[in-house]
Amino acid sequence: MATRTLRIAMNGITGRMGYRQHLVRSILPTREQGGITLPDGTTVQVEPVLVGRNAEKVEALARQHDVEHWTTDLEQAIHDDATDIVFDASMTSLRADTLSRAMKAGKHVYTEKPTAETLAEAVDLARLREETGVTAGVVHDKLYLPGLVKLRRLVDEGFFGRILSLRGEFGYWVFEGEHQAAQRPSWNYRKQDGGGMTVDMFCHWNYVLEGIIGTVRTVSAQTATHIPVRWDERGDVYDATADDAAYGIFGLETPAGDPVVAQINSSWAVRVHRDELVEFQVDGTHGSAVAGLFRCVAQQRAHTPKPVWNPDLPTTERFRDQWLDVPANAELQNGFKAQWEEFLADVAQGRPHRFDLLSAARGVQLAELGLRSSDEGRRLDVPAITL
Ligand SMILES: NC(=O)c1ccc[n+]([C@@H]2O[C@H](COP(=O)([O-])OP(=O)(O)OC[C@H]3O[C@@H](n4cnc5c(N)ncnc54)[C@H](O)[C@@H]3O)[C@@H](O)[C@H]2O)c1
Repeated sequence: MATRTLRIAMNGITGRMGYRQHLVRSILPTREQGGITLPDGTTVQVEPVLVGRNAEKVEALARQHDVEHWTTDLEQAIHDDATDIVFDASMTSLRADTLSRAMKAGKHVYTEKPTAETLAEAVDLARLREETGVTAGVVHDKLYLPGLVKLRRLVDEGFFGRILSLRGEFGYWVFEGEHQAAQRPSWNYRKQDGGGMTVDMFCHWNYVLEGIIGTVRTVSAQTATHIPVRWDERGDVYDATADDAAYGIFGLETPAGDPVVAQINSSWAVRVHRDELVEFQVDGTHGSAVAGLFRCVAQQRAHTPKPVWNPDLPTTERFRDQWLDVPANAELQNGFKAQWEEFLADVAQGRPHRFDLLSAARGVQLAELGLRSSDEGRRLDVPAITL
């Protein structure tokens, strides 16, 4: 059977996401397993080219992981005839430029979110993809999480009846960096460097809400910078100019035209009293479910207890025990790897990827409108984007 190799210039590979999720957890295991197999039996193998600014670091990573090709010259990698795909996990503020150059050079692109810092730029990227006809994919990793895959299956099976609401809780304590090093990069807390909770997470919430429930029609958000001063990677104190929490209410519309209210709290200044770092509860007329990264539990209408509010009596009912595990019924692999392999199959078969630059633009739009809603203290409509 035929074998084809896709060469991927991977930019930002020394970063947290680029290294851990994309190189180590996705592309290297895909290479290790001998690539992917298309329905016609063709094998598609991957060949990464590591791209970064620091030659020493990039070379060391290449050697450590037995990667033959590496470079510090992004421009050359983009224009190299051998490059099929340009991947970007570098800083958000540099992304639109890298993706534009890659698409103009006729390369397929796969990228971390957000695709741009402004809606105008994100829409320009989606337009450029239409003009160039390349295959473009944007990381929509949350939809590939086992917990959300199970949740989506419940929606598809009609488990919920009419869906009424979704509530999400995301976050954990990110250390300030003074006594204990922060577990996230400092640029995340500087607005001028593309940081901020709303910019970071609302693009995720847009595709999660679209992918599970329906289209986002309105947004009302309140953001906060709960921790105004932090310490960076070198131990220097800096002003946290970006929001570190965003409390959002989203008006949704299901494909059947039903309205659904979604509320999602996102915070890097919250301590976890949950089973997972993100959890979504969906309530419907016939059942409810709670999904995290891995687990999903559900409760049917017929199994719903009937609690009675009585502040004079201590609660004896064990509500958490009244939910049933939703089984995976399949082997669900790392979400980043699963989406990469779907994207590679799309590139090899010359077709669009379902999570594209237009979907990403809607995510950037939701972040932009969320910030505006908070600044102006009012609910805003989310208009449809046309290319
Ligand atoms: N999908 C997700 O769940 C998820 C999670 C976190 C971050 N992200 C996104 O991934 C991207 C990277 O985030 P991260 O947390 O890995 O950040 P990071 O700071 O760990 O990595 C950033 C990368 O960009 C490079 N870089 C930094 N400044 C640069 C400059 N001036 N010129 C060239 N390269 C530069 C760094 O060397 C590094 O390789 C961001 O766009 C972020 O929004 C996505």
